[in-house]
Amino acid sequence: MPATESQAPLTDQAACIALGEELGLNKSLPYTPNWSAAPDFLRLIVEHARQARPNTIVECGSGVTTLMLARCCQLNGGGHVISLENGAEFAAKTRAELARYGLEDFATVIDAPLTTQTVKGREYQWYVLKDLPDRTLDMLVIDGPPGFIQRHSRYPALPLLFDKLADGCTVYLDDAARPDEREVVALWQAAFPGLAHEYVATARGCSILRMKRDRP
Ligand SMILES: C[S@@+](CC[C@H](N)C(=O)[O-])C[C@H]1O[C@@H](n2cnc3c(N)ncnc32)[C@H](O)[C@@H]1O
Repeated sequence: MPATESQAPLTDQAACIALGEELGLNKSLPYTPNWSAAPDFLRLIVEHARQARPNTIVECGSGVTTLMLARCCQLNGGGHVISLENGAEFAAKTRAELARYGLEDFATVIDAPLTTQTVKGREYQWYVLKDLPDRTLDMLVIDGPPGFIQRHSRYPALPLLFDKLADGCTVYLDDAARPDEREVVALWQAAFPGLAHEYVATARGCSILRMKRDRP
């Protein structure tokens, strides 16, 4: 493998660690190059969480995102992350990391296995929502389920959670440069005209969608 290829993940890891240190997370973050969100996406969601001070953050897919958002809530003096995680082993790992950082009060990882759900007439494998508390969401971060599972893997997030989104809720979709995620965003915009969309050219692409406050 050429040196540049082997160094790229290390660079991302270093950037992730640097962001963690800015937040005071100094205990070797569990960053994995292929599965963790890239540092530029992490920075976007961290900056939003610090500025907007969301009360309830829901995320699809736990990991470093959970730790950083939980730490933002701690620094903000309030707020809570609810993370939907389909893999029991990853849920347990994220809970252990939250405990290692003393962030258990700021994030809850819910075991949410993927089950067949019909959304707008099509079947998807998506997170069981039975344990999701009935709360209004101020921020939604979508970094799962993995794209290889099915076409439009992340599409159900908005149809299934739309009624819970607060006016002004901000949605962050990772991996938005992929053709599949671009199609998902187009489908969302067609289904929910009240969404404003901004695309940020991060390494993997980030789509930011905001609920317009004057939605019907
Ligand atoms: C893109 S990952 C989520 C990453 C998380 N948001 C973060 O930044 O660390 C999406 C899902 O992939 C699964 N996953 C995480 N690490 C994995 C691994 N090493 N191998 C296979 N699946 C993994 C987990 O179920 C996770 O929720």
